[in-house]
Amino acid sequence: MDLVRTKEELRVARAAIESSALVGLVPTMGNLHAGHLELVDRARSQCTKVIATIFVNPLQFGSGEDFSTYPRMLEQDSDLLMGRGADLLFAPSVEEMYPRGRIDHTNVTTAHLTSMLCGASRPGHFDGVATVVSKLFNLIRPHVALFGEKDWQQMTLIRAMASDLDFPIEVVAVPTVRERSGLALSSRNSYLSDQEREKAPLLYSTLVGVKEKVLQGDSRYGFLEQEACAILAKSGFVPDYVSIREGSTLKNANTGSTDRRVFGAAHLGKARLIDNIAIDA
Ligand code: PAJ
Repeated sequence: MDLVRTKEELRVARAAIESSALVGLVPTMGNLHAGHLELVDRARSQCTKVIATIFVNPLQFGSGEDFSTYPRMLEQDSDLLMGRGADLLFAPSVEEMYPRGRIDHTNVTTAHLTSMLCGASRPGHFDGVATVVSKLFNLIRPHVALFGEKDWQQMTLIRAMASDLDFPIEVVAVPTVRERSGLALSSRNSYLSDQEREKAPLLYSTLVGVKEKVLQGDSRYGFLEQEACAILAKSGFVPDYVSIREGSTLKNANTGSTDRRVFGAAHLGKARLIDNIAIDA
C-alpha cells in the first residue's frame, strides 16, 4: 500500500491506476476500528482498487469540540489498512486541504438535511462533512464510496449531495458494526471511562425498546421519544435526542411511513454517542 500526503502525489498515484479499474473510496478520520475496516472489506469485495483517506477535518468540528484531542495514530492505522488490502492511503495535512485557511473556504451545503437531528446541536458540522467529502470525490474520482450506517444522517446527505452535484459515484451504505453488547463501534468510545463503557450499550438497547413498542403498534411517537430520553438521563447520559424518522428523507415518521428508523444521540462523560436502527424490515 502506498501512502501519499499531498494532492500532487495523490494525482500521480490516481493517474497510475488503469482506466478499467473500479475504484472504491473509504473516507475516514483515522483511529480505525473494526467498523472502518468493514468498509474497507466491502470496498475490497466490490472494487478492484481501494483508496482510503485519513483526515481529521477541522471544518466539521465546532468550537469546544474535540478537534485538537481527536486521536491521531497514522502509523497504526496505516498498518491496519495495509493488512486489509487497501491499495492507497491519502493522509493530507490541514494546510494541504485548506491552503487558504478554513474560514474563507467555499462550503457545500445540503441545508434540507442538516438542520435536524445531529445538525441541530452541531451547527456547521454537516457543511464541513459535505465540503471535505466533495473535495475527496473531486481529487480521487472514485466509482464507489462507502459510508457507515452508524452515521445515517451523514450517509444520507452525502447521497443527496452526490446526486444533486452530479458526482458519478455510487454511495454504498454499510451496516453498523457493534460490540457484542450492542454498542456501536466508534472512535469516540475511547473517551469513555470503564464505568461509562459499561453503561454505553444502553443507548442501543433503548433504541431497540422504542422499535419494539412501535412494532407492537404504539403510535405515540412523541411520548416514546421522551420516555427513551428519560431512560437515558436516569442512567447518567445527557440525551440530545431520540427521534423516529423516515430513513430516506429524515422527516418525522408517522404510522404510514414504510422506512422508519429510530435515531438517538446522547453525551456520556466526554463522549457524544450516536446510533440508529431500522424499525421496518
Ligand atoms: P469517521 O468517524 O472516521 O468514520 C469514517 C466512516 O466509518 C464513516 O462512513 C462512518 O459511518 C463509518 N463507521 C464508523 N463507525 C462505524 C461502525 N461502527 N460500523 C460501520 N461503519 C462505521 O465519518 C467520518 O469519519 C467523517 O465525517 C468523514 C466522512 C471521513 C468526513 O470527514
